[in-house]
Amino acid sequence: MTALGVYAPAKIVTNDDLAQIMDTSDEWITTRTGIKRRHVSADDEFTSDLAFRAVEDLLRRHGPDALAGVDMVLVATNTPDALFPSTAALVQARFGLRAGAFDLLAACPGWLYALSVAKAYVESGQAKRVLAIGAEALTKVVDWDDRATAVLFGDGAGAVVVEAVPEPYGLRSVVVGADGSGAGHLHLGSVGRCLPDGSQLSDKLYMNGREVYKFAVRVMNTATIEAVDKAGLTSDDVSLFVPHQANLRIIEAARDRLGLPEERVIVTVDEYGNNSTASIPLALAHALDHGRVAPGDHLLLVSFGAGLTWAAAVLTWGPWTAAAGGGDFVAPGARTAGPDATGPSAASELGATTA
Ligand code: UT7
Repeated sequence: MTALGVYAPAKIVTNDDLAQIMDTSDEWITTRTGIKRRHVSADDEFTSDLAFRAVEDLLRRHGPDALAGVDMVLVATNTPDALFPSTAALVQARFGLRAGAFDLLAACPGWLYALSVAKAYVESGQAKRVLAIGAEALTKVVDWDDRATAVLFGDGAGAVVVEAVPEPYGLRSVVVGADGSGAGHLHLGSVGRCLPDGSQLSDKLYMNGREVYKFAVRVMNTATIEAVDKAGLTSDDVSLFVPHQANLRIIEAARDRLGLPEERVIVTVDEYGNNSTASIPLALAHALDHGRVAPGDHLLLVSFGAGLTWAAAVLTWGPWTAAAGGGDFVAPGARTAGPDATGPSAASELGATTA
């Protein structure tokens, strides 16, 4: 991963704001989820717009040549502007890339799935530089009459460039999984109106929170252990745990099971709520902008979501990814000066050994 950019919409909705329009409270939302506010897209702002802004942030952080040679665009999203064309094709056109482009749907772990696809493309030689984006306008599909789900979600986007980098940096392991027998627990209808078992689908997000919670705690544990093991490491080697930001209680349970101290986990759920595929890239930007990550650190990423699906990865952080330095969007509370990032072009000069 040699470049990163993120975006979250300017409009912020606090728990107290929600308590004005539904039967909820800051106290309930904070204690059950850790969420304090969420960023909400404007009425005329859709997933492609958020993806564009994340890529623009990447260009600001890394310079105008940061997309040079990108030959594949992947957008992981659950809320594409349209079923077709893909959001990835819109990104390709907006930035004038000579690249293939497709969307990838694997719910919240979609961006980690995109990393695994990007890694495979690069390692097989099918692509040299992959732009992998997670972008989400979830507040457009939330059921605002269902307080149990409406308070949880937010919007945002993150974009990274994946390419070959020298040892010891890069993606050391990625594991992905699915259990479609849990499809009924979290869904949003589209062309079809029901699942194969006859469960009705609506055009608003439905979630059985308790079932997803139990699944999340279980799978965060098994997937992280598998990813760490596959990377040839132990949990003691993990410098920073960057989990999907859905619920602070789920994050804390996963951290506890891994035996990691509090200072080794990134928490942004208070600021963004759950913005699905955008949640891990935004958490990575937060870590970077707050000086919480340094070259050589082993980062453990994990996510879970509808499908049901899960994914985990171990990433050894390289020296290329730049902190925000005066762009429009700075991860909240971020410092403005970055570490000694050398820019994406340095990656190609170093020669390639791992993706
Ligand atoms: O990336 C997708 C992944 N999705 C998730 O990660 C969600 C996983 N699940 C969760 O995070 C939790 O299950 C929730 C946060 C959704 C719910 O927390 P919970 O502790 O499981 O609460 P609950 O559903 O058992 O509801 C407890 C009570 C109920 O009232 P009664 O029946 O005890 O009287 C709910 O009606 O809380 C009530 N409640 C609310 N009260 C105030 C539900 N939503 C709200 C609300 N404000 N927004």
